Amino acid sequence: MTDNVISILDVEKNLKEILRRAGEMKKKQKNGESVRSLKDKSLAMIFEKPSTRTRISFEVGMTQLGGHALYLSPKDLQLGRGETIADTAKVLSRYVDGIMYRAFEHEMMVELAENSSVPVISGLDDKEHPCQILADFLTIREFKGGFDQKLVYIGDGNNVCHSLLLGAPIVGMDMIACTPEGYRPDDDIYKKAVELSEKYDTEISLHDKPKEAVKGADVIYTDVWISMGDEDEEEKRKKDFEGYQVNKELVDQADDEVIVMHCLPAHRGVEITSEVMDGPHSVVFDQAENRMHAQKGLMMELMG
Ligand code: CP
Ligand code: NVA
Repeated sequence: MTDNVISILDVEKNLKEILRRAGEMKKKQKNGESVRSLKDKSLAMIFEKPSTRTRISFEVGMTQLGGHALYLSPKDLQLGRGETIADTAKVLSRYVDGIMYRAFEHEMMVELAENSSVPVISGLDDKEHPCQILADFLTIREFKGGFDQKLVYIGDGNNVCHSLLLGAPIVGMDMIACTPEGYRPDDDIYKKAVELSEKYDTEISLHDKPKEAVKGADVIYTDVWISMGDEDEEEKRKKDFEGYQVNKELVDQADDEVIVMHCLPAHRGVEITSEVMDGPHSVVFDQAENRMHAQKGLMMELMG
């Protein structure tokens, strides 16, 4: 494993070990056992975009492990006045033991990672959202008992879809990405996902008909149609994604035991109905909780 986790590919070799540790951390926390393996360590968290789950799960996770997390927005940093991301990385590396970064552009993430001498963890950028996928896999393992599953992603071929496509083969899961024309995952990501599916002997494919795609699905996954940064395209996207809503009619086409996932925040009534989100198949809040346990597992690997 590289010292940085800015793609789910960075944990290809020890994804299962991170999940094992995450499960163990969750169990210990539920039993009231404290684990202080990051005692006196600090995590800097730079957020260029808003966050509920990522911020709180990292911050509380660090506290539970005996460490400390600092929330930094560009407007509080000299970054907002033109100090470069490279210089910021070099300076932060002198103080802290790890940096979590939520960036608009993947290029900035790479630049931060290249100039940091402490581990860099992505908290999302325009290309991937690796920590989300760690939590998702922990959730799938909890609810389905393993990864011999078929996951059908419905919606935008965005950052979350990309990390799922790259991560699914690594854990041995089949995946279909069902997106409208024009919103497919990036070609280079899909190509890499196909390569991985050959390596790990899993199936991966693209689709554009939600009702057909979800037949036999063990997991239905969706995300917002309008990601952070896409707000200008709201009206166009709402039209282009017609027919891609995860509603009861769609869920009824899948396996009876299907679980429904969403990384949140959700736009209720847009990409997913409240009926489904609050319904018997939904595991979205377990998924949100698992962000913290998964990231504790990851931080212990990287910074412990
Ligand atoms: N899923 C997720 O990353 O949520 P936040 O944007 O609230 O961090
Ligand atoms: N695709 C969404 C994920 C939010 C956690 C976004 O980038 O806004």
